[in-house]
Amino acid sequence: MNVLEIGTGTGYSTALMCHRLGSECVTSIETNEGVARRARAALTGSGHTPHLVVGDGRAGHRAGAPYDRLIATCGFRSIPPAWLEQVRPGGVILTTLRGWMRSLGLVKLIVTGDSASGWFSEDDPSFMIARRQDAPESLGRVPGPDDGTVRKATYEPEVLTSSRPAFMAQLAVPDARFFSMALEGGPVNTFLLDSVTDSFAVLAPTDGGGWQVRQGGPRRLWDAVESAMGTWEEYGSPNTAAFGVTVSHDQQVVWLGNPNGPQWPLPS
Ligand SMILES: C[S@@+](CC[C@H](N)C(=O)[O-])C[C@H]1O[C@@H](n2cnc3c(N)ncnc32)[C@H](O)[C@@H]1O
Repeated sequence: MNVLEIGTGTGYSTALMCHRLGSECVTSIETNEGVARRARAALTGSGHTPHLVVGDGRAGHRAGAPYDRLIATCGFRSIPPAWLEQVRPGGVILTTLRGWMRSLGLVKLIVTGDSASGWFSEDDPSFMIARRQDAPESLGRVPGPDDGTVRKATYEPEVLTSSRPAFMAQLAVPDARFFSMALEGGPVNTFLLDSVTDSFAVLAPTDGGGWQVRQGGPRRLWDAVESAMGTWEEYGSPNTAAFGVTVSHDQQVVWLGNPNGPQWPLPS
């Protein structure tokens, strides 16, 4: 098989593939020049001579296409369109998807012409986010104490940190990040901020023991999180193996149960 790897790193996984397939069938892309240089030395030293490319793995490597397999060992927010063009129909893309709040997990996609589809694995592996996919430095506008509209929250901010609910939150608000802090010596509030649409949700405990949420901006972030949580509970609170991804040139979605089930778009 002809394989494209994204994220050469130390060269260890590249060496394993060379051992199995022969160096001439392995192409590996690393974005960091120094890391790529060390990997080349290590691979040459162990008798392997794969095709090593320094560049951005999102572009793939057209010269070596078509590939039977593409494996990425860094996390992407969505599937780069070049991968669909360079992996042959029937070929496989294996990558971790991740967001700015957490990893979504490992997905195995079968390519069929100009689209690809497949399921998440049950385990929850995570890689560093790929360079040029990382979050903007600024978290976005932190709202003032009177900004936004208030309602009672159905779910607590713990949704953002506990494993399976956090997967749903990542799907529901793909451009958001959060932090918690005490306001002027008061209780700890959780701020969920979306710097792309400039939207916010602030969760605060109420005297009655529940939570309230104050939301503003073009996207009602907590409404989206609660709607995704409701759907997930309706489907029996499944693990990641119940979810899949379909990718085409005009859209990429994560679905629950089957490709026509509830859907959440991946960021383009
Ligand atoms: C977890 S390490 C890879 C581990 C590697 N497969 C090994 O066996 O050592 C992730 C690597 O991906 C590289 N990387 C990050 N973003 C990238 C991108 N956009 N294109 C190519 N490589 C990237 C990083 O520099 C890092 O070396």
